Amino acid sequence: CRTVVLISGSGSNLQTFLDAAASGDSGYTVEAVISNKADAYGLTRAQNAGVPTEVLSHRDFNDRDSFDQAMAKLIDGYQPDLVILAGFMRILTPGFVRHFSGRLLNIHPSLLPKYQGLHTHQRALDAGDREHGATVHFVTEELDGGPPILQAAVPIESGDTAESLAQRVLVQEHKIYPMVASWFAQGRLRMVGDRAELDGELL
Ligand code: GRF
Repeated sequence: CRTVVLISGSGSNLQTFLDAAASGDSGYTVEAVISNKADAYGLTRAQNAGVPTEVLSHRDFNDRDSFDQAMAKLIDGYQPDLVILAGFMRILTPGFVRHFSGRLLNIHPSLLPKYQGLHTHQRALDAGDREHGATVHFVTEELDGGPPILQAAVPIESGDTAESLAQRVLVQEHKIYPMVASWFAQGRLRMVGDRAELDGELL
């Protein structure tokens, strides 16, 4: 299974894909890492792993549609079976999402459907929640609203800050995201209508 990973920042999730791909038994390869930011540290991670990198800055485009079309073309050049959003901080157009429908994954740092959008850790703290977490989901036109595949929950502890909570959630992200990618690579996971299906069972 050929994957392309899209990032905007640190790329700690990307690192888990690079490590899993290098280990050989994940069932997938990382063909390229594409960032919309030239200074994303994830690009260095990719280079260290010998994976091709591309930078496509949204600032070089007049509107979202033309950026997304250029991005889709760039991705298509690598002929991926799966496109992985790993901290890619751009809202995608319906055209882009449709083009990669059923082979586009995202991880969102909340227990969806709670806290779609930004600042999820602070919002969970402000709400006085006792737990928080992350969700891997197929991407659809609805922002952070596509069919959920796998969630991991963590406790919220007294004295937590958005940063300490984010760190606790990230540890779980690094477990569940590569796991979902390997399910996909093994042909066990697909999107059926607006649901995810694993091993023939709707989730
Ligand atoms: C993660 O918290 C992910 O859930 C969110 O952006 C963050 C990316 O972190 N979408 P990293 O770049 O993988 O370290």
